[in-house]
This record gives sequence, C-alpha cells and structure tokens, in this order.
Amino acid sequence: MSALTVPHTLSIESIRSQLVAPTVARQLYLFGKVSSTNAALKQLAVSGAAEGTVVLADTQTAGRGRMGQPWFSPAGVNLYASVLFRGSLTLIQAPIFSLIAGLALSDAVVESGATPAIKWPNDVLVDGRKIGGSLVECPERNGKVEYLILGVGVNLNVEIDALRAALGSAADAATSLCAATGRTVDRSAFAAAYLNALETWTRRFRTGGPATVLAGWRDRDILTGRRVEIRGHGMPLMGRAAGLDEQGHLIVRGSLGECRVVFTEEICFCD
Ligand code: BTN
Repeated sequence: MSALTVPHTLSIESIRSQLVAPTVARQLYLFGKVSSTNAALKQLAVSGAAEGTVVLADTQTAGRGRMGQPWFSPAGVNLYASVLFRGSLTLIQAPIFSLIAGLALSDAVVESGATPAIKWPNDVLVDGRKIGGSLVECPERNGKVEYLILGVGVNLNVEIDALRAALGSAADAATSLCAATGRTVDRSAFAAAYLNALETWTRRFRTGGPATVLAGWRDRDILTGRRVEIRGHGMPLMGRAAGLDEQGHLIVRGSLGECRVVFTEEICFCD
C-alpha cells in the first residue's frame, strides 16, 4: 500500500495526549458509526452534557451539510466532529460560530503544512477547493440559545476517486488535505489541533466579542472584492462581496451601490 492509502486511526488516547484545551473536549466520545455526530451530540446535550463535550465518529450514515445537503462521510479517512457550547448565547451570535469553526480548521490545516482560505460562511479551501465545512445547530427559546452544536467535517485522507464517485461533478470543487499536501494526515493529530484552536478562538470571542473573530476572518477570507452570485430561494442576484457585518453576515453590493445582507444563501464566484 502507498502512504496515500494508509489512513491513521482515530484514537481518544492520541487526541487527549495532544490536547491543551481546558474546556473543549473535557468529555470526548469516539463512536465507530453514528447517523450524524451533530445528532449524537444533541442527544447528549438534552441529557445535560457539559459545555465542551465532543462527539467524534469514524463514519456517519446520515452526515448533514448546510442547506439540507448530505455530507459524504466514508469510514477510516476523515474527521467528523461536533462540539457542544452552552452559556448565555443569543440567536444573533450563532453565525459567528461558523466563522470560528472556519478559523480553527484553518489553523489545523496550517499545522498540517497547507495554506487554507475561507469562503463565507463555512467553507475551508486548499488550492481553491473545499476540504471542509461546518454546520451550526442551536435550538432556541425566546431568543435565547438553549445550546449550540458546532459540527465540522473535513476531507483528510479520502481518495479523490471516492469523492468523484460519491459527489459526481461537485467533486471538481472538492479535495482532501492528503491530496493537496501529498502526505497522509494523522487524523488524531488533526482533531487535536482543531480542538485546541477551537478553544483559542471561542475564548477570544467570549472575551473580545465578534470583532476579534472578524479580524481573524479577514486575513483568510477569499470572497471580499470578488464578483459573486447569491443563490437563494428566488432569482439569483449578482454583486460584489463587501465583507461581513458585525454578526458575521455577508454584505454584497449591487451594481447601483445598494447593499444586501446575506444570511444563509449559497454564494458562487462569477470571476
Ligand atoms: C457543509 O455543508 O459544508 C457543512 C458540513 C458539515 C458536516 C459535519 S460532519 C460532522 C457534523 N455532523 C453532521 O451531520 N454534519 C457535521
């Protein structure tokens, strides 16, 4: 077998030995197979699991992506991880967690020797292709978030042929960290690097507010200044990406200078 086809096993002991995070991953669950790590963590959250509880799985049978899309989750090759946040969070703060995930994943990608970029709201790219993304889920009561689940999926060692077989033409816009660097990724080391970085970014957010996260985001953002198409429910809209507002929503300026705030729609490059 070539180095490209030897995936590193996920191991709780190995992850723990590389963790410096005091809150994130205090409780760490690693499952062989779940429907979705977000769904598994939701069950734990409902039964009172503590802030920072992490669910990892080797494979997901019903991994969920943004906009109701499935998330391809083959066994033995990638990272599927969900982290629980509690504390006083409002619904308006939830989108910032997508940005936090993008920044933490990017830090882990840098540790793996690649150069990441982030495409709003949650795509982490290497060489212009997506390697991972995040899904924030947070039940709300009277404008207050009961708890927030931040799930990330990252293509670490999945073969490009497997991506093509699963995603069809959409695989042209995707890659894996292994394909980008030419080196098999140690999944436990990557998971620990992500969780450590997640702790750092959430602490920055809790102490410094969204401005610290937005400043970090700007360094890695590849959308601002680009011509984009917004694909929502109605007609697609064209404009130029003009940065993020304080809550982490995308601002797109139309041809007449009018600004539109984009909340969840899909964004495509036009140039
Ligand atoms: C995206 O569409 O870019 C977001 C993908 C998020 C996938 C991850 S995998 C772990 C967690 N569990 C899920 O069901 N989804 C997220």
